[in-house]
Amino acid sequence: MTYSLTTPLYYVNDKPHLGSTYTTLACDALARFQRLEGNDVVFITGVDEHGQKIQRTAADRGVTPQEHCDAITKRYISLWSDWGISNDRFVRTTEERHLPLVEAFFKRCEANGDIRIGRQTGWYCVGCEEFKDEPPEAKDPYCPIHQKALEWRDEENLFFCLSNFQDKIEQLISQPDFIAPANRRKEIQNFVAGGLRDFSISRVNVSWGLPVPGHPGHTFYVWFDALLGYLTALLDDGGTVDLDRLASVGWPAQMHVIGKDILRFHAVYWPAMLMSAGLPVPARVFGHGFLTREGQKMGKSLGNVLDPELLLERCGTDAVRWYLLRDIQFGDDGDFQQQRFSDLVNNDLANTIGNLLNRTASMARKWFGDAVPQAGTAIATDHPLRQHAEAAIGQVRDAMPDMAFQRASEAVLQLAIQANGYLNERAPWSLMKQPGQEDAVGSDLYAVLECCRIVGLLLNPLVPDLSERILNQLGQHTMPEQWHDALIWGKLPSEQPLPKPNPVMQRLELESPL
Ligand code: MSP
Repeated sequence: MTYSLTTPLYYVNDKPHLGSTYTTLACDALARFQRLEGNDVVFITGVDEHGQKIQRTAADRGVTPQEHCDAITKRYISLWSDWGISNDRFVRTTEERHLPLVEAFFKRCEANGDIRIGRQTGWYCVGCEEFKDEPPEAKDPYCPIHQKALEWRDEENLFFCLSNFQDKIEQLISQPDFIAPANRRKEIQNFVAGGLRDFSISRVNVSWGLPVPGHPGHTFYVWFDALLGYLTALLDDGGTVDLDRLASVGWPAQMHVIGKDILRFHAVYWPAMLMSAGLPVPARVFGHGFLTREGQKMGKSLGNVLDPELLLERCGTDAVRWYLLRDIQFGDDGDFQQQRFSDLVNNDLANTIGNLLNRTASMARKWFGDAVPQAGTAIATDHPLRQHAEAAIGQVRDAMPDMAFQRASEAVLQLAIQANGYLNERAPWSLMKQPGQEDAVGSDLYAVLECCRIVGLLLNPLVPDLSERILNQLGQHTMPEQWHDALIWGKLPSEQPLPKPNPVMQRLELESPL
């Protein structure tokens, strides 16, 4: 099956921040999981380059909008490559192929009677690129998110007739799986229940946008053009930019992953636009929470922004991936705390998993000729570690499609904890001193090494580099593309040579603040 999934297309008004990195890492984990499950994955990310916000930022920097976009986009591409993001596509809304798609899509909506001319009056936030719903009471209203004054707009715009889709959208969002997590569905249902209002999709005062065909002077509103970037990305398979091809290249998307602030665009406006154009709607929209840092909102004015480039350089990809995916229930807001970050990485990855592997492999090398011992009784169906391993496999497979990374990481960690407990209880270092116990020790070590192999495999979508190091330490040098045949107890070959043990995870020693 084709499994297409998307991150938001990030605004290029500024360099990448921890919020965009968080979404991208989460999508990467899901994409890797779906590939291992045997699906044909199209993992899409990219940038949203039009609009007034970007036009103004470029002007402030004294460069053209295109120069500005090129510079920031380059940083996104290189950051994702440094983080090891496995995206299949990277779409830019300024690329040439995007315009004909936007035009074709708009013409379909227009032909279906869902576009009208109207007058747009209201308070606009350029930072959010959004009209604010509630007319603020204050004389000089400002946006609480961007801490900037709202701007009054009164102009002729083209409108998308969202009101034509009231019933269909109500029906869509009442489906239990469409909006995740479940607690965000209510908020959207309330918004829709208030009555859908047509929204403007063109601007007359913004030159940095795509021209609307047949309506000189109008450029497309940045959100109308940006959402369509998902389709442009899917059609970037070497074929033509043709909306009729979408079904064969992976549309509808199985999952749009976004932050909670842009859920309305994805769960209401976007499906209605697709319905108007006669295209299927995405299967699911996941609105995750926001990250704060040590309890505070991150922002330039507070000087507490956590720079993902620096974070990667100082801590490495595995540590950050593990912390963000394991500590925060995906969907909820989360707080980045430096002490907790290093404690979790050191306890879970360096101690519980890393030491388990290291000490077991050392014993096996010492007593069993530098190789994996014979499995013996370890392969019995009622072996306690086999049962724990099989449970962990089931839990990971159950959790990952729902982006329940915390549940998945907990299951893997529990398996390592059980294996540590088993090793301590069996105490092979004492047993080995007793005559005739060599086979028993061999099979105990086999069982623990087999747990390490399964831990290594199950960690792959979450912390891919660490996963490879674990498997290498077990003498396995290639990670399978699909894991069905590998996630079976007893697949670790006896007599496989074990390389000299090397710690798989460095401890994090963060003396100064990040
Ligand atoms: N360009 C639009 C998306 C268009 S999609 C067709 C956009 N871009 S953004 O760069 O401003 O935001 C990208 C994502 O980052 C959003 O999903 C937003 O929720 C997320 N985050 C921004 N700050 C965040 C945190 N502090 N924490 C977690 N995610 C946050 O919106």
